[in-house]
Amino acid sequence: MKVFVGTFVHSTANTPMVILTDTALGIVNTKIAFIEAAEKLEQLKIDYGFTDSCIIYLTQSQFMMPGMVDTHIHASQLSNNGLKLDLPLLEWLESYTFPTEAMFSDLKVAQDIYPKVVERLLRNGTTTASYYSTLHLEASKFFAGLVHTKGQRALIGKVNMMVNCPAYYCEDSLEESLKDTEDFIQYVYNMQSPLIQPIITPRFAITCPTDQLKGLAKLAKKYSCHIQSHLCETKSEIEWIQELFPWSKSCTDVYDSTGLLGEKTIMAHCVWMKGTELERLKECNVGVAHCPNSNTSLCSGLCDVRKLLQQGIKVGLGTDCSGGYSPSILDSLRRALDVSRTLNMQHQDNHFLTLPEAFRLATLGGAQVVQMDDQIGNFMAGKEFDALLIDLEDTIEDKIQKFLYNGDDRNIIQVHVAGRCVINQQNH
Ligand code: GUN
Ligand code: FE
Repeated sequence: MKVFVGTFVHSTANTPMVILTDTALGIVNTKIAFIEAAEKLEQLKIDYGFTDSCIIYLTQSQFMMPGMVDTHIHASQLSNNGLKLDLPLLEWLESYTFPTEAMFSDLKVAQDIYPKVVERLLRNGTTTASYYSTLHLEASKFFAGLVHTKGQRALIGKVNMMVNCPAYYCEDSLEESLKDTEDFIQYVYNMQSPLIQPIITPRFAITCPTDQLKGLAKLAKKYSCHIQSHLCETKSEIEWIQELFPWSKSCTDVYDSTGLLGEKTIMAHCVWMKGTELERLKECNVGVAHCPNSNTSLCSGLCDVRKLLQQGIKVGLGTDCSGGYSPSILDSLRRALDVSRTLNMQHQDNHFLTLPEAFRLATLGGAQVVQMDDQIGNFMAGKEFDALLIDLEDTIEDKIQKFLYNGDDRNIIQVHVAGRCVINQQNH
């Protein structure tokens, strides 16, 4: 048993940010056994049979928050982070992204890059991620084992794509695509990891013909798997999909009629959705991965998250590396606020996201999108203990830097002029 005592911050269904001070949180094995007022500590010791040696007191400068969830990230693209953001999506994929992913046919590349990706994400507070690897079976298997060993919670998808992609980076046949995907699913289930699950990953409708989408939906059903893809990210993508699937009513309809929409489906972006498409996402309980850095960096568009939330659609945050150039969900949180405010400036509707709401998207919202909110997302007894300990006590050098970059009147406690203290906010 381990017990933390101090300040905890999390979201609940009703309140986007709840701050619990003087609180005790007890952990047994992987799970939260209790979260109670610290004044009950003596009784808790008796009830749960622990002693003072199990208690860790957070300092005044520390707090705990739930681990963050990245609902959409391409692990194989991280080496391009911050590079090559000068083309729109479809040209960007062709010129930069497919060549980068193709390198993972060499297992050595995977062994070199993937450990850095997982460590980078964990260091940035991402305790759960929904990953795209590449279309390579062996590298994807290696990645699944690695994420398990590093101790991160994850959905891991071997990418499927077989048309409208270069010959050097393309699945050979429908049969091979489905066989490799099933092999990958079985491999991950055989690992029997409590942390890792496979996710069916048709890249997007442009690269996956109808029979492939249907075949993948069948596999998802057979193994009760999660599903992830990209939806309505850019206008040119939507136009091309309408040409490729002339029978479809919309892009959402392409995934819908092939059997890919359900409560375990994550759709990234959803920037340019018609009203009927949003209604369908809600009906099917599909989750949306909002990727604001990527949407702005690739000039894809501004996603109106408020509209999604008002429809009752599940929304989480995604970094979408390397369309987005930051691997941090904190960055995604800040970008989500920026985009929401930008839309508000256009519409003047005062419906922009608040900071607590963005915090919820990064934690509980993300947990809902990956359909794990019964296990993670906030601090409730019975849930897994996925948490970050934050300490804002800096070295003196860092304090000075942070003050010069981010400080303001809240940090200027006293002002003296000619020996007279003209401002004094000490102890206010
Ligand atoms: N659509 C299809 N593939 C991709 C990808 O790798 N990144 C982004 N942002 N969009 C995509
Ligand atoms: Fe993406």
